[in-house]
Amino acid sequence: MQGKFITFEGIDGAGKSTHIGSVKAFIEAQGKTVVSSREPGGTALGEKLRDLLLHETMDLETEALLMFASRREHIARVIAPNLAQGHWVLSDRFTDASFAYQSGGRGLDRAKMEALEAWVHPHLQPDLTLLFDVPLEVARERLDATRTLDKFEREQADFFARCRAEYLRRAEQFPERIVIIDSSQTIAAIQAQLQPVLEKLL
Ligand SMILES: Nc1ncnc2c1ncn2[C@@H]1O[C@H](COP(=O)(O)OP(=O)(O)OP(=O)(O)O)[C@@H](O)[C@H]1O
Ligand SMILES: [Mg+2]
Repeated sequence: MQGKFITFEGIDGAGKSTHIGSVKAFIEAQGKTVVSSREPGGTALGEKLRDLLLHETMDLETEALLMFASRREHIARVIAPNLAQGHWVLSDRFTDASFAYQSGGRGLDRAKMEALEAWVHPHLQPDLTLLFDVPLEVARERLDATRTLDKFEREQADFFARCRAEYLRRAEQFPERIVIIDSSQTIAAIQAQLQPVLEKLL
C-alpha cells in the first residue's frame, strides 16, 4: 500500500519547520513509518544545491531549474521509494513553493513552472498540503528574533506579499489538496488546527 505525502508550505517565518516534528510524532503514534525531509535539499546532492540556491546570486531561470533539479533528485531517491514502501513522507516545501517564490515573488512566467512540474513529477502530487499562512509582519518579526537571514529571507516585504498571494491563489485552485492553517496563532493553537486535518487523512 502506498504511503501518504504531506507538504508544508508558507512564507519564510510562517512556522513550517516548527510543526513538522510534532506532525511526524502524531502520525508515528498511529503506527506509521514517517520520513521527514525538506526542499531544496533532502538528498546529498540536493543539500549542495540548497547551499547554492540560498547563498549565490543567479539568473532567475537558473534558480528555477536548480530548484526542480533538487526536487527531481528528492523524488527519485527519497519521496517515491518511501511512498512505494508504504511510508509517509513529510516535506518542508515542495512545488507550491516554486510557484510562490519563483513565479509569485520573482515574476517568472507561471507556464514555465507548469512545464517543469509536468516534466519532473507528472504523476505525483501531495495528498495534503498544509499552508501556514501568516501576515508578513508577523513572519518578519519571528525571523528577525532568531536568525541570520539567507538570500530569500533578505527580500523586501512586497516580495513576500507576492509569494503569499500566489500561495493563497493556489489554495483556491486546489481546495481539496491545500488546507490553510492560520499560523498567526500560538504554537499550541496551531497544533489543535492540524489535528483534525491529519485525522482525515489517516
Ligand atoms: N505560532 C508561533 N508563535 C510564535 N513564534 C513562532 C510560532 N511558530 C514559529 N515561531 C517561531 O518563529 C520562527 C520561525 O518559525 P519556523 O522556523 O518554523 O518558520 P519556517 O516557516 O520554517 O521559516 P523558513 O521558511 O524561513 O524556514 C522560529 O523562531 C519559531 O520558533
Ligand atoms: Mg523552516
